[in-house]
Amino acid sequence: MADVITEQDKEYEAREAAMAPGDDQDMADRVNNRSLRPQSQSFVEFMSTGWDDNEPEIERYESAAYTPARLAALGAAFPGERLVIPAGQPKVRNNDCDYKFRPDSAFIYYTGLGEDYEAGSVLVLDPTDLDSPEAKAGQTHTAQLFVAPRANHYTTDFFEDPHYGEYWVGPRAGLKEMAAMTGLETHDIARLSDALAKDGVRMRVIAKTDPQITGIVNEVRLTTGDPDRVEHEGDDNKLLEFASEQRKCKDAYEVGEIRKAVAATKLGFDNILRKLPSAIGKPRSERMLEGAFNAISREEGNEVGYDTIIASGAHAPILHWERNTGVVGDNELLLIDAGVEVDSLYTADITRTFPTNGKFTDFQKRLYQAVLDSQQAGFEAAKVGATYSDIHHACMRVIAERLHEWGILPVDVEESLSPEGQQHRRWLACGVAHHLGLDVHDCAQARYESYQGAPIEPGMVFTIEPGLYFREDDLMIPEEYRGIGIRIEDDVLMTENGPEWISAGIPKQIDEVEAWMAQMAAEGAQNR
Ligand code: GLY
Ligand code: MN
Ligand code: MN
Repeated sequence: MADVITEQDKEYEAREAAMAPGDDQDMADRVNNRSLRPQSQSFVEFMSTGWDDNEPEIERYESAAYTPARLAALGAAFPGERLVIPAGQPKVRNNDCDYKFRPDSAFIYYTGLGEDYEAGSVLVLDPTDLDSPEAKAGQTHTAQLFVAPRANHYTTDFFEDPHYGEYWVGPRAGLKEMAAMTGLETHDIARLSDALAKDGVRMRVIAKTDPQITGIVNEVRLTTGDPDRVEHEGDDNKLLEFASEQRKCKDAYEVGEIRKAVAATKLGFDNILRKLPSAIGKPRSERMLEGAFNAISREEGNEVGYDTIIASGAHAPILHWERNTGVVGDNELLLIDAGVEVDSLYTADITRTFPTNGKFTDFQKRLYQAVLDSQQAGFEAAKVGATYSDIHHACMRVIAERLHEWGILPVDVEESLSPEGQQHRRWLACGVAHHLGLDVHDCAQARYESYQGAPIEPGMVFTIEPGLYFREDDLMIPEEYRGIGIRIEDDVLMTENGPEWISAGIPKQIDEVEAWMAQMAAEGAQNR
């Protein structure tokens, strides 16, 4: 057993050297000063013996059937080049406590992975030798996943490393397990530097994800006589852009996962509405409702896809009210923007606006219906071949018309809608549609011409989310409008036959919302 530990320790040292932690080492050593862990050889030997083998169960991920096509498309865009896609490192919260790790979305997309196992891992697309039979058969790259081996009971890391040691964090996947889960070739992360440096081919890296890996790539570029930093940044940005744009059209697996996220989000809203009647008037009752949603996100999925917005009364016009410190008052409008991220790390993005006591007043109905009509106009503009800009303009026209009808718009509708006008945007200053997927604002690194200006295609999943935001301090509107915010946000799949509301199961028509609230309030009363 002692021999095995020595070998593993050598690997560990090599890995440490490959990752070059440098300046962080002093800080890590100081954090270790609070440890009274025994150092004796007999302790180390005792800790390394007498454990039952704990082989974790390995299941092939469903996504493994989809990643080969994604990788092939990426490879075809960059033939002959080495592509480096890091998972990223955990972010330190303080000292030796990290935030929960979530890999970078490009890494998730191309590997199908998405657990704490993968912190520090790197996907490399290694270019196929152009003269090889594989290249002649059309293969451009081999996908290689560089990962840390398991820190199980054959290693001292088992009990010494609070980040990877299985004594600390439970069973993790290593090379064998990750190969089985993903179908990808796996290698020890200790060999990454050599693998990147081996032949001096042109490299691109997703540079923002892991500065250590970007550093290694730049080092290799220097040593292979390729020092033009500006050119490299351009190369790297192209890879980032491509990896973002490739995610625009979802495959069948992705659509299925987003549907699951939407279904889980419905359960989260149900739980909020069960809690709502008993929360009204209580201190920090926005937080009570946040807790009700977030509990479901952990039960049903990985967590929330973004910080939950619970905005009652005058908080509702604050676009990203995430403090949620307010009191939910009676007879107010309550805006809730929330989404569950499922275990595959796809998220929903849903907003509903509720009358806190369960019934809309006539005035609230008038405002709410304007937003609903605006959203429907956006949906009708969403066609294969149309653009996000078409959705935007359709939503905005309804908003401008209603504001004019109500005597709020200071100019006529056409003047407001003209590029020189835009006065209506005072009450809807944000965008009304965005891609949705692994990131709530998916594909965000795409170029303008691939996003706003690009034709909508089957397979795209996006939100439509107009609103009206009447701030409490807005002196340009009658007093009764002040302190009201309404947003209605749904998730849409574009199909060959037109758009589909994939969140149609979450009520939004006025009578449906009231019935839903009554049903959930009754359920909540029964459970109390
Ligand atoms: N929840 C963020 C957004 O709606 O875009
Ligand atoms: Mn959204
Ligand atoms: Mn939202």
